[in-house]
Amino acid sequence: MDGVREGGLRNVSSHCSIPEMDDFELSRLMDKPRLNIERQRSFDERSLSELSIGLNRGGGDNYESVYSPGARSGLDTPASSARNSFEPHPMVAEAWDALRRSLVYFRSQPVGTIAAYDHASEEVLNYDQVFVRDFVPSALAFLMNGEPDIVKNFLLKTLQLQGWEKRIDRFKLGEGAMPASFKVLHDPVRKIDTIIADFGESAIGRVAPVDSGFWWIILLRAYTKSTGDMSLAESPECQKGMRLILTLCLSDGFDTFPTLLCADGCSMIDRRMGIYGYPIEIQALFFMVLRCALALLKHDAEGKEFIERIVKRLHALSYHMRSYFWLDFRQLNDIYRYKTEEYSHTAVNKFNVIPDSIPDWVFDFMPTRGGYFIGNVSPARMDFRWFALGNCVAILSSLATPEQSMAIMDLIEARWEELVGEMPLKICYPAIESHEWRIVTGCDPKNTRWSYHNGGSWPVLLWLLTAACIKTGRPQIARRAIDLAESRLAKDNWPEYYDGKLGRYIGKQARKLQTWSIAGYLVAKMMLEDPSHLGMISLEEDKLMKPLIKRSSSWTC
Ligand code: GLC
Repeated sequence: MDGVREGGLRNVSSHCSIPEMDDFELSRLMDKPRLNIERQRSFDERSLSELSIGLNRGGGDNYESVYSPGARSGLDTPASSARNSFEPHPMVAEAWDALRRSLVYFRSQPVGTIAAYDHASEEVLNYDQVFVRDFVPSALAFLMNGEPDIVKNFLLKTLQLQGWEKRIDRFKLGEGAMPASFKVLHDPVRKIDTIIADFGESAIGRVAPVDSGFWWIILLRAYTKSTGDMSLAESPECQKGMRLILTLCLSDGFDTFPTLLCADGCSMIDRRMGIYGYPIEIQALFFMVLRCALALLKHDAEGKEFIERIVKRLHALSYHMRSYFWLDFRQLNDIYRYKTEEYSHTAVNKFNVIPDSIPDWVFDFMPTRGGYFIGNVSPARMDFRWFALGNCVAILSSLATPEQSMAIMDLIEARWEELVGEMPLKICYPAIESHEWRIVTGCDPKNTRWSYHNGGSWPVLLWLLTAACIKTGRPQIARRAIDLAESRLAKDNWPEYYDGKLGRYIGKQARKLQTWSIAGYLVAKMMLEDPSHLGMISLEEDKLMKPLIKRSSSWTC
């Protein structure tokens, strides 16, 4: 087995993508006349392939298997290190212990992990809660280790919370809204557990956790993919939960773009940071969610209606993102030479971006080879900042074309010092300073330059970087990043973030024993060890969304 696994790793570096049989081909769904029959067929194929996957395991290309059950018995030994062909790093066992200590129980069942276990910190704030987004790397670690139950409990518990009536002051929130976080309260006297949840009504700044529902759907797919258990996703409750989330983001409004309009602080960056509008993190997650939902929604009367809307939206969204959010040397040069005040359909500078608004740093930052999806695009506004999560998710969801994915990795390599430095990985680049910081953050003392959300380095992002590296066939980049993390992370007691241009200093207000720093490291390690895990969190490119190739007239002959 070990030989096979090593072979698998070597194999990955020579492949750009992981074929996936079960994901819907958008092209088929767009084929109107055959829509119903075809959908039904792909659904059956999907179930079949998902149920007969065990066959793939042990084969030479084991990273290609459609699901990766981590069959194991004991709860305390991480399967990943037990079956490792080389000595596991001592940090792995330490991380598993810490991850298990962060478990949160509701009526004796594990339902999530606490955000940080830092009792030394003077202010707990809400770090003693289970955050939906923070739980994702924990969930992946448990799935990869063959412990899916906690993930199922979490999915069901949060689904229940979605069903609550949610209000902020006198305003009733959308039915589909998922909480940013929840907390279990234990009453030792009456011996009962109760839950409180935060949908933004207690959050600092009353920010809306747009990403929570998205991560919920992504996790539901990861669970389904990893266990082969379709019954959870197909249950009426989960189907309804998905439809409610989708209703929130697919409803018609005044939009002129297929991207999703958001308020500031709507995602991992949950404070004012100038990400309002169409932030890349949300757009990439939105794209991924639409594709996951397409694979999970049943083809019943209610599901079908959503599937049709999703297919249309995906089509428009991929076009918009790939055309207008993409920046490379050539594109930057084009924008630099843009004419302004163009009217009508023939406009080249569609958003009327004034070239003078291009910040100086971007000209130096842009390598000749490489590119990335910029932070935000709206009328006369391009936020040229580079954001880690959005770009990695763009690779994983195949929002980025294979060429764009390669370019994103090229840029990370070319700008290693700026983006990785001494601790992976910058949440965004560069930091905003001085007057701009005052205007954009509202003088936020937590988000000073090169700290926290403003150019800080977040170890949790290591798992996303690793996944993107494996998908693009560049595991050696991930290995380099993991080596950096291993030189400090445990010694520093798993901080939430690091500060400074190189990410050299433990963050000013960083929590210690931050669970997603711990879980992110474990997930990165397990994926490198067994790249077949990648399938849980990655989607293959869809044929229809490929850029159009001109066919020669002899094509039909
Ligand atoms: C901070 C982060 C947010 C995270 C939370 C709990 O608010 O910005 O992304 O979910 O802490 O760790």
